[in-house]
Amino acid sequence: LAEPVFLVDEKRRILLANLAAEKLFGAGLAARDFVHAIRHPDALSCVDEALAGRDAREAIMTLPGPVRSTFRISAVRLRQSNEIGAAAVISLTDISHVLEAEQMRSDFVANVSHELRSPLTALMGGIETLKGAARDDPAARERFLDTMEREAARMDRLVGDLLSLSRVEVNEHVRPSGRVNLATIIEKAIDAMATQSRAENRPITCAIADGDWEITGDADELTQVFHNLIDNALKYGRENSEIRISAERRDRVPGLQGPALAVRVQDEGEGIDSEHLLRITERFYRVDDSRSRQKGGTGLGLAIVKHILNRHRGRLLIESEKGVGSTFTVCLPLELDVQKRELS
Ligand SMILES: Nc1ncnc2c1ncn2[C@@H]1O[C@H](COP(=O)(O)OP(=O)(O)OP(=O)(O)O)[C@@H](O)[C@H]1O
Ligand SMILES: [Mg+2]
Repeated sequence: LAEPVFLVDEKRRILLANLAAEKLFGAGLAARDFVHAIRHPDALSCVDEALAGRDAREAIMTLPGPVRSTFRISAVRLRQSNEIGAAAVISLTDISHVLEAEQMRSDFVANVSHELRSPLTALMGGIETLKGAARDDPAARERFLDTMEREAARMDRLVGDLLSLSRVEVNEHVRPSGRVNLATIIEKAIDAMATQSRAENRPITCAIADGDWEITGDADELTQVFHNLIDNALKYGRENSEIRISAERRDRVPGLQGPALAVRVQDEGEGIDSEHLLRITERFYRVDDSRSRQKGGTGLGLAIVKHILNRHRGRLLIESEKGVGSTFTVCLPLELDVQKRELS
């Protein structure tokens, strides 16, 4: 049994502890009171209640330690007399990941509501002003309409990104089946950003090594990956600086088996502090909240990238130096089947 299980007698003495129980609470528990294994009062009373034949036979307890784990403990009294004199079975189920998922879900709903509420508040404020104070003031009316347009566009982007994220998440465990040419996808993504690049005077250069760029993947999703990375490089890079994109084949990439195609998106810009690096692919995580918002960011771009790359069994490597710039490297395995076997 993968879950820790104990057998105790009428006096709560441990008759048997399986391997999982010994791993968690140490060996040498036989013949000792159950309190030597678990001291938690709720757990003990749950066992006592079961031995007394009463109803409350479940408890939740959290074990401290470097990785906090929460267990549901259940105790069942054995009715029939048996040779070893066992009176109750106690089993522990690790529910940490269930609680974590619940917490993440409720955090996500709270975040989404908060993100939607700010543009909505601005829109409602605008409507109120247009109906009142700015009704007969053409200049103010224009100004408020501009703000409302911007906020409505932000809401539209947010809803669009949320839909993308949920679509990618639903498909995350379904392997992409199409064949795509990565070089073409990169070039198209760069073309799509040309207007923005010109407007901000931030040229994009691209160097793709010779070779075979065909991989198994989803063209729309991979386009979105490069779109989001180039968009960040444009948003967070220094004025007039260049964005360099290069692509090459690599025989080895950390965390991947076999050869991979690696695409680097490099900017010269504000860079990211190492304390934030691990978290920037989380949904709604922004290093500088007001700056990202002012740039119209939803904070979902890299979360979408991460999920798309998971689906493609790829990796995102991020290197960055504060004040110098950042390099985001997308690594996509050439042999998807090998990765699947490794991960499953
Ligand atoms: N190239 C970069 N240079 C510096 N900081 C970056 C870079 N890319 C991302 N970041 C930081 O990581 C955060 C998360 O990026 P992400 O793309 O997920 O969200 P966003 O750009 O704020 O919004 P969105 O992409 O959804 O419009 C950004 O807010 C920014 O602080
Ligand atoms: Mg972004």
